[in-house]
Amino acid sequence: MTQVVITGANRGIGLALTQLYLDADCDVAACCRHPEEANALHALMDKHEGLELFELDVSSSDAIASLGEALKGRPIHRLINNAGYYGPKGVSLGNSPEDEWQAMFSINCIGPLKLVESLTEGLCQGQGIIANLSSKMGSMADNSSGGAYLYRSVKAAQNAVTKSLAIDLAPYGVKAVALHPGWVKTAMGGPNALIDTQTSAAGLYRVIEGLTSAQSGGFFDYQGNIIPW
Ligand SMILES: NC(=O)c1ccc[n+]([C@@H]2O[C@H](COP(=O)([O-])OP(=O)(O)OC[C@H]3O[C@@H](n4cnc5c(N)ncnc54)[C@H](OP(=O)(O)O)[C@@H]3O)[C@@H](O)[C@H]2O)c1
Repeated sequence: MTQVVITGANRGIGLALTQLYLDADCDVAACCRHPEEANALHALMDKHEGLELFELDVSSSDAIASLGEALKGRPIHRLINNAGYYGPKGVSLGNSPEDEWQAMFSINCIGPLKLVESLTEGLCQGQGIIANLSSKMGSMADNSSGGAYLYRSVKAAQNAVTKSLAIDLAPYGVKAVALHPGWVKTAMGGPNALIDTQTSAAGLYRVIEGLTSAQSGGFFDYQGNIIPW
């Protein structure tokens, strides 16, 4: 059985990915900050025996350690670091709140790495794939409009983490990839976004499940197009 771990599984893209992996008969460890309030996940539990809920704030090292303990001994085949935080909108030069920046760094970059560290044994056992939900906004080459200092920088830092993970874990058969989900209609993407969560998740699923060793360490969008760093 394929064991999948997804963070931020309670809504948005994470929820759509959870649904897809359950439909594919995988076991899904769906992680979120407040499992007791995760109504959409509870509804899925009625239909899918393979769904387990875990409490996880990715900015908490204690919570990450507890998840590592709870999953100890299990091979992990997919780790989807989906939880993310855009932070305050409209951050321009001369207006970059440090406390928010630190919180964003913790959620988007430090948390995903710490989670890999906590689950390394299982990932190696499962020869797993680490899929880090990044953003085109973390691409230097794609930045033609400036601004968004906080979000751009934390996703760029996450990309650097993804690349090193791909190199360091390759000898153990583990792959890592940075993924741009498209501009998606979620709380983060807003109502004017171009695609819905199902379209994004279906594309991400295809890219993750088709990932080759040669593509590990790369940066792709949900349609499998390479994104320049
Ligand atoms: N939507 C887009 O257009 C878009 C574009 C590019 C990249 N992305 C990336 O795609 C990923 C998913 O985005 P989305 O649009 O689905 O976002 P979303 O609708 O805003 O959902 C964010 C998810 O992250 C969780 N989260 C936030 N802080 C957390 C923390 N400290 N610990 C654990 N979970 C936390 C949220 O949980 P709570 O419900 O508890 O807040 C929620 O489940 C993110 O990494 C985002 O940066 C999205």
